[in-house]
Amino acid sequence: MICARVFVIIGLCFLVTSMEPAYCQSQNADSPKEETSETANSRAQFHSLSRPGLHNVFQIDDQVYSGSGPEGKQSFDALKKMGIKTIISVDGTQPNLKLAKAAGIKYIHIPIGYDGISQDASLSFLKAAKEVKGPVYIHCHHGRHRGPAAAAMVGLCRGSLDKQRALLFLDQAGTSKDYAGLWRDIRQFQVPAAGTRLPELLESARVQPMVTAMAHISHYYEELQKKSESTPPGRQDALRVSLLLREEFHESLRKHSDDYDDTFKTWMRESETEIKQLEAALKQGNQNQVSARLKQLKAQCKRCHKAYRN
Ligand code: HEC
Repeated sequence: MICARVFVIIGLCFLVTSMEPAYCQSQNADSPKEETSETANSRAQFHSLSRPGLHNVFQIDDQVYSGSGPEGKQSFDALKKMGIKTIISVDGTQPNLKLAKAAGIKYIHIPIGYDGISQDASLSFLKAAKEVKGPVYIHCHHGRHRGPAAAAMVGLCRGSLDKQRALLFLDQAGTSKDYAGLWRDIRQFQVPAAGTRLPELLESARVQPMVTAMAHISHYYEELQKKSESTPPGRQDALRVSLLLREEFHESLRKHSDDYDDTFKTWMRESETEIKQLEAALKQGNQNQVSARLKQLKAQCKRCHKAYRN
């Protein structure tokens, strides 16, 4: 199957070579006449549609949105209001099926890493692009890197984005160039041939235990940052969360790091130590030291991700 390309002629969209759904980016309707070319279409911005409970929300085409992971009832209500019928999560955390169901929304879980989109995941995105009916919201955690890459791939499969716009979208969504694999897999993506066997879509996929542990670590880190840098600092709350964070490092090192080398294990231990020092600073009420430790811990996350994840 050839990926459809969209040509805009005097404000109308004609879909050329595809059975995929037709699509017209509304802002092009206002373009001046000499701009009504494929180049004008390529330059059109993707507008942010963020709202309470959902961040970094962008619309890819008439059916596809991307953004941050929904976190509570408020987020699911916002999705329902947007008319979303299906959510695709590419995050390592288990989808909140209960809240989704209560909002009348289906979940599809296609977890991907920061190092790129595997062949298997690509086939799942193609399947989702073909089968999903009604508006779909694609999310990772923050909605900046993996989610936009997945949404760009779905757009390519649907024929609503061409390569140039898919890459422009990643740029506007803020996808970091550090995640070279995500950029590469969009740049090099070819829609798989018709007849390729496509995997079953799952509402909740199994993920590696280290991925789940990291998703928790990320959650606790953000909580800790919020609580310890609020004014006045919520010291007891911060200590409670930092204990959870420290435990998560400790336990994932103990239980899930067999496949990793010694440097990895040393770095995990260093993060645990860093958190202990952060706790000491919290107890002393030394706010400068707390901020310095948080920053140092963040640098440790980045160091390890650069070496072992991205
Ligand atoms: C010693 C190494 C190491 C440290 C330290 C570390 N991580 Fe990770 N992290 C990893 C690895 C490895 C993965 C990818 C696991 C995989 O995909 O199998 C990962 C994955 C993640 C993910 C992606 C989870 C998903 O949904 O796929 C997030 C988020 C994350 N880490 C956050 C953090 C934060 C926040 C910190 C610091 C507070 C941190 N990590 C510290 C090694 C580390």
